[in-house]
Amino acid sequence: MRILYLGDIVGEDVLSVIEKNLSRIKKENNINIVLANAENVAKGRGLTKDLYKRLMTAGISGLSMGNHTFAKSQIVDFIDESNIARPANLYNVPGKEFLQIKYNTKTITLINVLGRVFMNGSSDCPFRTIDRIISSVKSDYYIIDVHAEATSEKIALANYLDGRVSAIVGTHTHVQTADERKMNKGTLYISDLGMCGPYDSILGDEIEPIIERFITGVYKPTKPANGKMVLNGAILDLTLNKITRFHEEY
Ligand SMILES: [Fe+2]
Ligand SMILES: [Fe+2]
Repeated sequence: MRILYLGDIVGEDVLSVIEKNLSRIKKENNINIVLANAENVAKGRGLTKDLYKRLMTAGISGLSMGNHTFAKSQIVDFIDESNIARPANLYNVPGKEFLQIKYNTKTITLINVLGRVFMNGSSDCPFRTIDRIISSVKSDYYIIDVHAEATSEKIALANYLDGRVSAIVGTHTHVQTADERKMNKGTLYISDLGMCGPYDSILGDEIEPIIERFITGVYKPTKPANGKMVLNGAILDLTLNKITRFHEEY
């Protein structure tokens, strides 16, 4: 069982790249299932129904989200019936707290949690949230997207869950880390998958307004940049228990 997990998809230009290339990528890498983080697809913040449908048609089976899950309010109209695992440690919000995907005889459970360090949010404890779900939900494989800023929090979760889940992939920073590994008790891990989006950008958005925001402290609206695109993620081989970083440029 080989899974390609793509990091935060930023904007519609890179969605077109995914639409054009995903079937080739799946073939070349013997991929059975594609998962992705979709919190930034709609102009960098959130997800609309049209874009959700395009992701599904492109060949992605399951999506995780993040701190921008509800940035486009229309998501509440379709999230309950979607293939989206929203952050499980949000209290009393629409959407599924885990997503189950069947492949042949196997079941994969996708769980998405938000970190709490440097995240300005009010989410419940990600450690206890995952404990609660994996102890009550039967599955052949559990894959966790830890959407968090701090590598310390992600690595703490990896050690806490080692041997109890199949893989833990980090998202949110949009910068791919070079620390992919198999943990001591067998869980596959990477601190961040990186983003799918514009290469010459600041985490996917146009450069100039963000530099100005840092210098002046005045908020300027931003949007995804154009130009060269990158796809970042990781291939999780759940049969051989091996993780490989994925990176392509267009
Ligand atoms: Fe993101
Ligand atoms: Fe995020």
